[in-house]
Amino acid sequence: MSKTIFVCSDCGYESAKWYGACPACKQYNTFFEQKLEPEKSVNNVNAKLVVQKSKPVLLKDVEYSTNLKVKSKISEFDRVIGDGFVMGSFTLLGGQPGIGKSTLLLQVVDALASNGQILYTSGEESLSQIKLRAKRLNIKHADTILMQSNNNLNEIINTALEHKVKYLIVDSIQTTYLDEVNSLQGTPGQVKACTLELMKFAKVNNITTIIIGHVTKEGDIAGPKQLEHMVDTVLYMEESQQDNYRVLRSSKNRFGPTDEIGLFKMAESGLVEVNDASSLNTFTHDTTIGVAKSGVLEGNRLMFCELQALVNQTPFGYPKRVALGFELQRLNILIVMIEKQTNMEFTDTDVFAKLVGELKTTSSNIDLAVIMALVSAKINIPLNQDVIFLAEVSLTGELLPLANAELMIKEASKLGFKQIYVSSKIKTENNKVIKCRNLNDVLNYQFKGRK
Ligand code: TYD
Ligand code: MG
Repeated sequence: MSKTIFVCSDCGYESAKWYGACPACKQYNTFFEQKLEPEKSVNNVNAKLVVQKSKPVLLKDVEYSTNLKVKSKISEFDRVIGDGFVMGSFTLLGGQPGIGKSTLLLQVVDALASNGQILYTSGEESLSQIKLRAKRLNIKHADTILMQSNNNLNEIINTALEHKVKYLIVDSIQTTYLDEVNSLQGTPGQVKACTLELMKFAKVNNITTIIIGHVTKEGDIAGPKQLEHMVDTVLYMEESQQDNYRVLRSSKNRFGPTDEIGLFKMAESGLVEVNDASSLNTFTHDTTIGVAKSGVLEGNRLMFCELQALVNQTPFGYPKRVALGFELQRLNILIVMIEKQTNMEFTDTDVFAKLVGELKTTSSNIDLAVIMALVSAKINIPLNQDVIFLAEVSLTGELLPLANAELMIKEASKLGFKQIYVSSKIKTENNKVIKCRNLNDVLNYQFKGRK
């Protein structure tokens, strides 16, 4: 006899009774009834796979090729995955819906088509929808790329075996399901089981596989985060706040670096590589009083941000101090620090400081930018907007290096910042970097001859 349970479609929480709101993830109306079938024998599944299981070999007899990597020749993509694909590798491409994951992979497989049979499976779109996109992208190898609109993993695997596929794209892992698993598509149970099954299949058959995984705005519900430890490489595609760039980065890579980023722009005919944003003048050479740029890390994502400051003579009573988007305490400490290190005074001065956008941070990364916005507002001298300040500042006015400074410098420079202020303790050869020991160094450099 089959039993009934209730499962949350968002987080996979299982319970014997129904809830209006999931006790685990607090979402409403996510509970669905599910019948628990008696477990099927796993031996029946993918019989072909079992036969093809690899036998142990002596280490000296292991065959290998020195020419393991295959490039797509889309250089912004190749660099991020580690100078091309390792054959038989398993990659997860994550990102919010609509960011351009399917577009990117269709372009990548087109570029790989001459290297071996490709199967692109989609459980998200119909074949005619994909064809429309392919036309828009001007895909050249339409006569060799195999497309399938399917979300049954066993069928996908069988097609891949039948056509001796070398590259397999699964779009997306959330719409794929295994008959043997008793939970809904997109639930953590299904997503994990499908990834594991595909992984086994890809490794045994040496098929280079990329799966797409959607990430929600809030983070990672039922999503890619849980899969990160299983796969070889994790790529994330994000929208940069600067000019709608698409930024590709890897948060894990068994075969390459994790500090490279790829830059693209979404155009009428797909994603266009941006090899050097500085050539595009992303940042105007405008100058603004009381505005300074910085960068904060959110998880492993770097977000550029803008600090604004307004200072004014206090009309009466106590001076007002307001910090929006970061701690008031930080603002107060930094004001005292400026007074100690320079001849500026903020007594009887109202100070309002704001981290622009919906951003909130407790990070000390923004210290130097807060100070520079304040100083600029106080002395009424504008700052260039293609300058970025990436340093924590100690109570003694010394610049301290940020964690992940190298990654930040690389990204800031690639996105087109012309001057990057950092602590002199940071070792880097980047020619846009200006190393300073302390606050006075920075002020001298920025306002030299401008007062
Ligand atoms: P898509 O690759 O479908 O996103 P994802 O797979 O991550 O959900 O692309 C999403 C958006 O890109 C879509 O809104 C339309 C736009 N787009 C273009 O602007 N130009 C193009 O050539 C293509 C194919 C898509
Ligand atoms: Mg898609």
